[in-house]
Amino acid sequence: MGSPEEDALRAKVLDSFKVVCICNKIKKGTIEKAIAQGARTLGDIKRATRAGTGPCGAKRGGVTRCTPVIKEMLEKAR
Ligand code: FES
Repeated sequence: MGSPEEDALRAKVLDSFKVVCICNKIKKGTIEKAIAQGARTLGDIKRATRAGTGPCGAKRGGVTRCTPVIKEMLEKAR
């Protein structure tokens, strides 16, 4: 435990290590970095990080995987 600011920073860092694209093991922080560097579309993210380009086609067994999360991140960045 630290100050509220330290706790918030720690939570943010831990969050950035969460894997968004399971197929290619792309972490949330990698996608955030691509957005910070100018990625604005799903295609931009795919080219910059390979997230969303795995063998599941962003879906598996009818369950959508990484694409909705990436789109939500792009929406929040607007
Ligand atoms: S989980 Fe992202 S392409 Fe499969």
